[in-house]
Amino acid sequence: MSRWVDVGPLAALKFSPGAPVKIEDTWLAVFRIGERLVAIDNTCPHASAPLCDGTVLHGKVVCYLHCWEFDLLTGACDVGTEWNVRSYAVRTVDDHVEIEWPGATVKPS
Ligand code: FES
Repeated sequence: MSRWVDVGPLAALKFSPGAPVKIEDTWLAVFRIGERLVAIDNTCPHASAPLCDGTVLHGKVVCYLHCWEFDLLTGACDVGTEWNVRSYAVRTVDDHVEIEWPGATVKPS
């Protein structure tokens, strides 16, 4: 079961062009598409470059190491579906960014 995870205030995210955020042990990259926020896995499946540091063109991020492209809405890779990254729903609540995280564990208090 998924849940929404607060990754901090929108103003605190460092977009360049993507903003890296970490949930549990996974790094994600949050991007802006106009006014909309989207998130995909940050680690390129080819050779692990951070996708947040790529170039955004036409709704895709181009990895800076070998130029593979990933759709920012779906995570689809132009090289082949076996290289797709995960995409995540993003929302803002009271200026905080929340990401729908699948299977997030709730730590006991
Ligand atoms: S590391 Fe991203 S395309 Fe090679």
